[in-house]
Amino acid sequence: MSDLLIRGRVLTFVAEPQGIDDSVAYRYVEDGAVLVRDGKVVETGAYADVRKLAGAGLCVADHRPNLVLPGFIDTHLHFPQTQAIASYGAQLLEWLNTYIFVEEQKFARPEHAAFIAGRFMDELLSNGTTTAAAYCSVHPESVDAYFTAAEQRGMRMIGGKVMMDRNAPDALRDTPQQGYDETKRLIEKWHGRGRAHYAISPRFAITSTPEQMAMSQALVAEHPDCYVQTHLSENRDEIAYATSLYPEAKDYTDIYARYGLLTEKTLLGHCIYLDDREVSVLAETGAVGVFCPTSNLFLGSGLFDRDRLDRLGARWSVATDVGAGTSFSMLETMDEAYKVLHLQGQRLTPFNSFYRMTLGNARALGLEKQIGSLHAGADADIVILDSSGKSAMELRMRTANSLAEELFILQTMGDDRCVAEVYVAGRAMKSGASDSPASAAKHDLEPA
Ligand code: GUN
Ligand code: ZN
Repeated sequence: MSDLLIRGRVLTFVAEPQGIDDSVAYRYVEDGAVLVRDGKVVETGAYADVRKLAGAGLCVADHRPNLVLPGFIDTHLHFPQTQAIASYGAQLLEWLNTYIFVEEQKFARPEHAAFIAGRFMDELLSNGTTTAAAYCSVHPESVDAYFTAAEQRGMRMIGGKVMMDRNAPDALRDTPQQGYDETKRLIEKWHGRGRAHYAISPRFAITSTPEQMAMSQALVAEHPDCYVQTHLSENRDEIAYATSLYPEAKDYTDIYARYGLLTEKTLLGHCIYLDDREVSVLAETGAVGVFCPTSNLFLGSGLFDRDRLDRLGARWSVATDVGAGTSFSMLETMDEAYKVLHLQGQRLTPFNSFYRMTLGNARALGLEKQIGSLHAGADADIVILDSSGKSAMELRMRTANSLAEELFILQTMGDDRCVAEVYVAGRAMKSGASDSPASAAKHDLEPA
C-alpha cells in the first residue's frame, strides 16, 4: 500500500492538561501532517518536515482547515441497546426490566445480531469513535457478530458476552457453568485475534449469584490479560438491592473486591455514589471509574463526583453508555460531562475534554502505545473535525480566537456533522468510498 499523508491542523496530547493554559500537555501544528504506512503512524509534525519522509506513490488527503486528532475512544456502551436509546420515563431497574431485557432477547437471532453489530460500528465511526468497549448480550452469537463487524472494518474493539444468572428473564439467563464455558470459548476464539480484545462481563452484582461471581473470579485469574467490565453504584435503589444480596460485603465496591474482580483492567460503569473508602479501593487496585454523563442524566441516576476520584487518586474515563446514554457522539458526551461537573462546582477545561476522549481513555484501557495519540508507531486511527460543521457553529466560529475556544465550541455544539472523516488503521471510513464497509453496510436492510 502506498503512503498516505493526512494534512490539516494536527492536535495530539502527550499528558493530562493541568489547567486551561497548559500548553505542555499537547502538540498543535497549524500546518501539520500525519504520515501513514501499513496502518500505522510513521511520523507526525509540520507538513514540510513530514512530507520529506514519504515514499513513492504518495497519496495526500488534504483536510485543511480541519483539525486532525486521534480517533475517539468510548470506554462503556451496550451494542444490543442500539435500538433502545430514548426509551421513556423509567429509572435504572425499571428501565432494565421494561425495555432492555426485552430488547436484548432479540439477539438470540444471529441475523439480528449481525445487522445491529454492523450498524453499531458504523454509528461509532460516523461519530469519530474508532475504539470502544461494549457489552454484548448473553448470547455467544452476539459476540461473534460484534467482533466480526469490527474485524470487517479493521477496528480495535473490546467486548464480551454479559453473564447473568438471576433477576433477568429466563431467556436471558445463563448458569455459572455456562457463563464460564461460553466466555472461555469466546476468549479463545477472539481475544488477540487481529485487533480484538475480550472483556469478561458479569453484568452487575444484582444479576449474578455468588456462584457466578466465583466463576467470573476464576476467568479473571485464568485470563489476566482480558478486560473486566461491570456496573457499580449507579442508582440508589440498585445499591440497596445489590448490597442486600451480598450482606457480608462492606459496601457495593467490596462485592467485586471480594471476588477479585478489581484490577487495572477493570472498567466500572458509573461509580456515582461511592464513598471515600470505596474510591480508595479503586485507587489501590487501579480499577477505572467510568463517567457516563448522558446516561446518568437520562436515567436520573445522579452526578459523577470527579473531584473525589481525583483527590483520592482513582483512575476514571468517559463513555457514552448507549442505550441509557442518548448519543454515540463523544463530543455530545463531553458537553454533558461539562454540565454535570459544573452543577457540582467542578470544571472541565476544553483541553481536558479532548485529552479524555483520546489519550486519557487510551490510558484507562492501557492501550496508550497503540491508540489515543499520533506518535510514531501508533495505529493510524484518526478523526478529522470540522468546527463549522453546522451553520450555527460556522457563525459562532467567526468570533472564536483561540484553540481552546474552538475546542469548547466543538464540544458544546458539535456532533457527527462535525466529523468530516475518520480513518481506521489508515483507511478512510466515512467518505463513502466504494470499498468502505461502512458505506456498504448503510444500505443493508433490517432482517425480517
Ligand atoms: N446496570 C446493569 N445493566 C445496565 C445497563 O445495561 N445499563 C446501565 N446504564 N446500567 C446497567
Ligand atoms: Zn452500562
